[in-house]
Amino acid sequence: MAACASTTAERSDQGVIDDVPASLTLVPSRKLGGFEFYEKVLKRSRYFLAPMVDQSELAWRILSRRYGAEVCYTPMIHARLFSETHNKTYFAEQWQTNATDRPLIAQFCANDPNFLLQAALRIQDQCDAVDLNLGCPQGIAQKGHYGSFLMEEWDLVARMVNNLHTHLDVPVTCKIRVFPEVERTVAYARMLEAAGCQLLTVHGRLREQRGHKTGLADWEKIRRVREAVSIPVVANGNILYPEDMEACIKQTGVVGVMSAEGNLYNPALFAGRYLPSYELAGEYMAICRETPTALAYIRAHLFKLFRPSLPLHTDLRDRLAKARTHEEMESMVQDLTTRLKAEAELAPPFNINLAPKDADGFYILPHWIAQPYIRPPFDPKTSTKKRPVPVPVPRPTGSTAVGPGPVTTATATPPAFVEPTPSSLVVTPTAGPSPETLAGKSYTPVIP
Ligand SMILES: Cc1cc2nc3c(=O)[nH]c(=O)nc-3n(C[C@H](O)[C@H](O)[C@H](O)COP(=O)(O)O)c2cc1C
Repeated sequence: MAACASTTAERSDQGVIDDVPASLTLVPSRKLGGFEFYEKVLKRSRYFLAPMVDQSELAWRILSRRYGAEVCYTPMIHARLFSETHNKTYFAEQWQTNATDRPLIAQFCANDPNFLLQAALRIQDQCDAVDLNLGCPQGIAQKGHYGSFLMEEWDLVARMVNNLHTHLDVPVTCKIRVFPEVERTVAYARMLEAAGCQLLTVHGRLREQRGHKTGLADWEKIRRVREAVSIPVVANGNILYPEDMEACIKQTGVVGVMSAEGNLYNPALFAGRYLPSYELAGEYMAICRETPTALAYIRAHLFKLFRPSLPLHTDLRDRLAKARTHEEMESMVQDLTTRLKAEAELAPPFNINLAPKDADGFYILPHWIAQPYIRPPFDPKTSTKKRPVPVPVPRPTGSTAVGPGPVTTATATPPAFVEPTPSSLVVTPTAGPSPETLAGKSYTPVIP
């Protein structure tokens, strides 16, 4: 393990710390770390389900593991709230796992080493590692002073990582975004490693790349980080299709890939499969029957799973938006399943190897097949905050082509539904002017 190697704090010209802040007391750790942890505990896994607020909940993890996800992350948990032993509601809402839900990495956002440690101590015996979210770019993270808004506060970050490294029985891992400069990104990663981080996920986008500015992740920066550290690195970003996973591993040399949106739109992504959305939705609903799951989470999943079909079945889209009970959602899923099955039966059997591609090289898939959401590329000249909504254009009767036809961005109806924020997740950030909702504002879901 390189974690305890050095206490040297060299400073670069930019005033950033290259290695460990001098303020840290580093103690040797006997628990598994780095590649040993990766091999023995994470079993050399290659497919990592991303932490996703409101979306990587237990029910979704169960589904994703059935389809190839090997290591799963919990949604981000607010460390201070979670550390409050009297706050039983927040704990119960945020912590849900079972014996088969392993390997599991619990993710926290924090800006205080003590709260973070107290929060992690509560669940360390039910997970395989504790992750620090250093990548959240949302306004709520800026107000709450966490996630990617700690990218300039290396001393604080190092103290939080080191506190977990020193006191927990399980390893600490980190998830970061990249800086504009690759050297700074590499220095940041090395600082985290030196502070005790045992596995690093690099999301190859800048803090500014979010919402309509999401754009592409930079795999080259991920490769440079991987070369510079001695701990396992997981790559995150640009994983839309199964073939992207191998391409990413090959190009960056990482141990594995993490997917968030790719998995949400096609939960069979890690298994390299293209399955009917209604089959996956049915399976997920069956899991939810056994695994208590908030209605808002289910709704958001169904909107993504059925995204290409809902513009063609707007009455059911409205029912999904308005459903107030699990039964209403189940009935909507059943009705859409009946319709989609009927459409699928009339079409030629689906075969990904025969699927046509559009001008940009993206597959054109039947709308009833779970498929990635292709974000329109960000163009600063033409882009507005309002992102166009792609709508599949039905093919003329008699067409033999597979799929719904080209996707246009012109004729979209605005979303009929705005996902509500569960009121139970209203929190007051440690630092920040006013009460904010953690879940609803952290990661604005893409609603069709
Ligand atoms: C709905 C949603 C919720 C997310 N929540 C979290 C989170 O809790 N913690 C985190 O570190 N990143 C979160 N992210 C970011 C993802 O983990 C991931 O870094 C990002 O989406 C890029 O990966 P992708 O290109 O595979 O989507 C979230 C993303 C989405 C779409």
